[in-house]
Amino acid sequence: EWTMENFIEMETEKIRQQVGDRNVLCALSGGVDSSVVAALIHKAIGDQLTCIFVDHGLLRKNEGAMVEKTFRDEFKINLIAVPAQERFLSKLEGVSDPEQKRKIIGNEFIYVFDDEASKLENMDFLAQGTLYTDIVESGTETAQTIKSHHNVGGLPEDMQFELIEPLKTLFKDEVRELGTELGLPDAIVHRQPFPGPGLAIRVIGEITEEKLEIVRESDAILQEEIVKAGLDRDIWQYFTVLPGFKSVGVMGDARTYDYTLGIRAVTSIDGMTSDWARIPWDVLERISVRFVNEVNHVNRVVYDITSKPPATIEWE
Ligand code: XMP
Repeated sequence: EWTMENFIEMETEKIRQQVGDRNVLCALSGGVDSSVVAALIHKAIGDQLTCIFVDHGLLRKNEGAMVEKTFRDEFKINLIAVPAQERFLSKLEGVSDPEQKRKIIGNEFIYVFDDEASKLENMDFLAQGTLYTDIVESGTETAQTIKSHHNVGGLPEDMQFELIEPLKTLFKDEVRELGTELGLPDAIVHRQPFPGPGLAIRVIGEITEEKLEIVRESDAILQEEIVKAGLDRDIWQYFTVLPGFKSVGVMGDARTYDYTLGIRAVTSIDGMTSDWARIPWDVLERISVRFVNEVNHVNRVVYDITSKPPATIEWE
């Protein structure tokens, strides 16, 4: 009989057999898949697992801290957190093309990971959160690439590792169930999809620390209000976007000239198509007021009411 408990027992035994007394390395992003892989392998082999978490500075507010707290403090996993914000930001300086941003971030991730991995000795295995759907989808690549979907955590196979992919028979909902069974918090298990390049593709055009700050702060406020309104499980993805242009406003009796901020919220089954979420107007009103009052340099808020197609979920 297939139950999650049996799955855990069988998989951990398999991992123990495969690994023996050797060591496993895992690139932990804080996303559902890599988190569940780390928790599962840790259950199997404990301290023989080391995780590397690359903080590229494009994460949401408090995300890095949550990853460290969950995996190092609570799960007691050997976790190496690499603060690489400056490295990524300097590589992205002056770059405004979305595909080029993705490429730079994907490549830089590999360099940083490689640098850290090479400092460690006796690492034989690399754990990856490959799912059943990842294997199936890569076989049915469409002719035209709309976005390259560089997934941070996707590592080249020419590294000197043997791969461990314990989730490759599972679907996403099973991975979430497994995560819960392994004791991961809801904030990780039911996390909304978040692109590998992170906030870099939510600042349209050239990235600056100031613009990242606007997107990061407003995103946190949006999360808070959507959860408070009880809408977080119905909406597939919700986030803010900074188009990068300024417009005229008035504050008190003074003229302002500041950024416009966009809200994107969609319902979807699989991310392939989506509809814009009908967030109640009073919720949107509260969000808009908070953005203008609490986020520096924002004086106008717009709501994206296009579906996919013809738009995509992310703006870049
Ligand atoms: P789009 O914008 O193509 O997004 O409608 C569909 C889903 O994919 C996510 N997305 C990405 N995920 N790397 C990722 O790992 C990327 O470069 C990337 N671009 C978009 C998007 O957030 C949505 O869930």
